[in-house]
Amino acid sequence: MKRNPLIPYLLIAFLGIALVFFLSVKGLGDAKEIAKEKEGGGEKVTEKFEPEAFAKQTCIGCHGNNLEGGTGPNLHGLGAKLGKDKVKDVLANGTSGGMPGGLVKPENIDAMADWLVKLK
Ligand code: HEC
Repeated sequence: MKRNPLIPYLLIAFLGIALVFFLSVKGLGDAKEIAKEKEGGGEKVTEKFEPEAFAKQTCIGCHGNNLEGGTGPNLHGLGAKLGKDKVKDVLANGTSGGMPGGLVKPENIDAMADWLVKLK
């Protein structure tokens, strides 16, 4: 019996296709896992919301390195003066005077306002 000379090529082609198929299935699985990790990570960030660390990232640009004032006013003692409700309103909606709203995620505004009211 004479072997068809095409068989080795066909075998290799088939292996190649199988490999591509395998990798794409594996890739899909990995992508799902990564998405899951991201979701989990996101939740953790929300749980561990640290107003002070957040302020050091997000507010110091305008309120000064120690929140002692810059373009924006000194934040020490300001929260207590304004009251928590007003602070929450400012964080959510900003002011017409240049304070941008929406910097703090809605679910973190309460914790952020609590911290600001206590910032002496
Ligand atoms: C783009 C610059 C900028 C950033 C970033 C910024 N602020 Fe402000 N902020 C201002 C300015 C300007 C004012 C003064 C606004 C006014 O008088 O209307 C202000 C005012 C405020 C006030 C007082 C509002 C009032 O009604 O008197 C609070 C409280 C405040 N900022 C908190 C924060 C916090 C907390 C962050 C970080 C999450 C932050 N700001 C980030 C510019 C900024």
